[in-house]
Amino acid sequence: MKAKELLKSLTLEEKIGQLVQPYGKSLLRADPETGAPMRDPLGITDEELPLIGSVLDNSICDGATGELKHFRDNLKGKVPLIAMHDVIHGCDTIFPIALGLACSFEPELMKECSYISGEEAKAHNILVAFGPMTDLVRDARWGRVMETTGEDPLVNAQMAVATVEGFHQAGVAACVKHFAAYGLVESGRDYNPVQIGERALREYFLPSYKAAIDAGADMIMTSYNTINDIPATGNRWLMKDILRDEWGFDGIIISDSGAVKEMIPHGFAKDQKEAACYAANATVDLDMSSTCYLRHLKELVEEGKVDESFVDEACLRILKLKERLGVLDNPVKYETYEDTKKAILKPEYIASAQKCAEKSAVLLKNEGVLPLSDKVKKIALIGPFADTEEILGNWICFGPKHYGKGVIKTVREAVEARVPGCEIVTVPACTWALDDETTDFAEAVAAAKDADAVVLCIGEHQLHSAEGNSRVNIGLPKGQMELARQVCAANPNTAALLFCGRPLTIVELHDICPSILCMWQPGTAGGTAAARLLFGDVNPSGKLTMTWPRAVGQCPLYYNQTRTGRPCWGMEVQKKRSMTSNYIDEFTYPLYNFGHGLSYTKFEYTDAALSADSMKAGDTLTLSVKVKNTGDREGQEVVQLYIRDMVGSVVRPIKELKNYKKITLAPGEETVVEFKITEEMLRFWRADMTFGSEAGDFTAMVGTAANGVTQHPFVLE
Ligand code: GLC
Repeated sequence: MKAKELLKSLTLEEKIGQLVQPYGKSLLRADPETGAPMRDPLGITDEELPLIGSVLDNSICDGATGELKHFRDNLKGKVPLIAMHDVIHGCDTIFPIALGLACSFEPELMKECSYISGEEAKAHNILVAFGPMTDLVRDARWGRVMETTGEDPLVNAQMAVATVEGFHQAGVAACVKHFAAYGLVESGRDYNPVQIGERALREYFLPSYKAAIDAGADMIMTSYNTINDIPATGNRWLMKDILRDEWGFDGIIISDSGAVKEMIPHGFAKDQKEAACYAANATVDLDMSSTCYLRHLKELVEEGKVDESFVDEACLRILKLKERLGVLDNPVKYETYEDTKKAILKPEYIASAQKCAEKSAVLLKNEGVLPLSDKVKKIALIGPFADTEEILGNWICFGPKHYGKGVIKTVREAVEARVPGCEIVTVPACTWALDDETTDFAEAVAAAKDADAVVLCIGEHQLHSAEGNSRVNIGLPKGQMELARQVCAANPNTAALLFCGRPLTIVELHDICPSILCMWQPGTAGGTAAARLLFGDVNPSGKLTMTWPRAVGQCPLYYNQTRTGRPCWGMEVQKKRSMTSNYIDEFTYPLYNFGHGLSYTKFEYTDAALSADSMKAGDTLTLSVKVKNTGDREGQEVVQLYIRDMVGSVVRPIKELKNYKKITLAPGEETVVEFKITEEMLRFWRADMTFGSEAGDFTAMVGTAANGVTQHPFVLE
């Protein structure tokens, strides 16, 4: 095997160089376009340069900027470089953010998105994608919810597997992240501590990482947070005991960017040498964006604080990956920008992104304004997102760096193309800035009054979610909310197109606006998708995979909560001093529940029934339900199965999603949906930390959303 032979030929310094991943730009000595000297944040010397084994971001790959030539000419190390990058929801062709695409409840779309993203990544000579990001989330204040697939372990696991499969189909390695439980940062504040019991960690947060590993993820990335006061990147229990020994993971563990060095500000390592020691003894193979390994690992080995066998194992894992991906033979498959351009932004890729954007959209409310008639004579598009290309999302890799004119259509351009005979009046009216406090909306109000229909294009800008963008107020900025008030008052035939990277607290908008269609950040084809959804060319079918709170004070808020000893049920106790688990100034329930999503048609659920009211291990119960499309257009519905364990050795959630089926029904069509219930589905991490089911009472539930289900009790004997 090449990798093993190559390892034998390397010195200790050369092996350690393979465990270092700076930003690609750190290795450029001069800007390839301007020739200006490049500042290297890591201070890698000319002697160290040839040792480096991999780079982060696009700097080895972009023939467009001549960097590729630099790396071919200047890096004469024994082992070719490999490039890795954040290919999260697209590479050049940008797909909807993951929190949106997950709402399709179609893992095969997530696979398609990753396949296409992987094909485009390869065209930039990137062979490792830093995805799936499968951190389970419950707090909309955290900006990175946009990268996740939401609050449910089942959906997260399925979407993580689909992402790995998609990248692998493209021949690109997948790096699942961030291990572990990064989505539970305290107060929704990025990089904050995570305190969690082992049982809850295993029950809710670990399954999706495990699913990705079992699906063949090649790498896993450590998370920035501490887990019970130990930084994940130096957490031997997490990385060695669980990941390596219990799960048998022999892939590459890469630190998050700078996370090895950050053990110093964490107050866990006194210096870079100690940080390197902690990470190595946690079997972290690759030190991203720091020189802890480069500068201290050799000394640590010589002092016996780190076994040289670790360096060999880590280096071999990286060489094997390079061999598997063909890097040892030929690290650069796309020599020129012309080669790259032929392989990206293909029409079928844009079409796929459009389909995904259409399937990600969630119709939150509809009191008849949507779909718009294409006979309408005058439409007012009002708001800061009516005519902007900035609806791509935040992790947008190369998009739109290489876009030509017309690749992206704004909402305005797409609506004009959709209804050419209609007069379109576009009024941005205010900015998308969080502190926008515009109050004068005379032009917008006049346009609204004069229009047959109004589309409010409002929401959260793509720069206000994603990493580092935690927020304590997750409603609309004051200016946008005032705009919505005045426009909805001016014309009742108003629908809102909501762009966002997280659940927003929009109770007032919900109260005053007849129809609200959430587009998330829909990506390159988002404008066209929005136009087709507005006019009913495609019927919205998305369902929320993350709960939308009424108020930020409810965060964290999620559907599979436990009941407490003083459950707050029923309207009579809401917002009153009732000595139950309630608030006296807000309802306890969400604005929109997990699983919520409307359609332009209606679905009727009848005859839900369980095949028996008791079962033993080995038996199978069947929960069946009739679903009928009682409207006048075809639609898709995600029928959901939840189960509740009524009494357990630990308190159990009031419901847990156990399966779902997305069905398509023509007008008037009816079908019977059946779910199998097995004893395996009832297993959980019990009080004694064994994994299994417990005999007793259960309730099966089926319906259209977490708060729209029928109840069917049964007993596990
Ligand atoms: C970032 C992110 C991580 C990303 C890495 C490289 O800080 O936490 O998701 O893969 O650095 O960009």
